[in-house]
Amino acid sequence: MNNLRSYNWVRIAGSSSELVFGTNQIALAELDGRPICIGRFKDRLFAFAYKCPHASGLLSDGFIDALGNVVCPLHRYRFNISTGYNVSGEGYRLRRWPVEDRPDGLYIGC
Ligand code: FES
Repeated sequence: MNNLRSYNWVRIAGSSSELVFGTNQIALAELDGRPICIGRFKDRLFAFAYKCPHASGLLSDGFIDALGNVVCPLHRYRFNISTGYNVSGEGYRLRRWPVEDRPDGLYIGC
């Protein structure tokens, strides 16, 4: 993500501990009334789209693999959790947002 860009930070939870992660290391959250996914990999949080850019598979039903890729449950395309790049070679890119875990809450940059 471009660190020079200024974001509008939206508080999505009082703290990261409010998120409910499944065994797939993905939690559901809301951003401006729409579902988004929060993934956890190596104690870091990443926000990404609820639906896969390929054919709208629900990524909350996918999982984070050992390399930190989001794996879509429909066709198993893989996306790097921090860059959004499709690492399985199909040419798609996953939308994602920066996350900040601050003392007063969990924020997503839009
Ligand atoms: S819908 Fe996600 S890989 Fe096809």
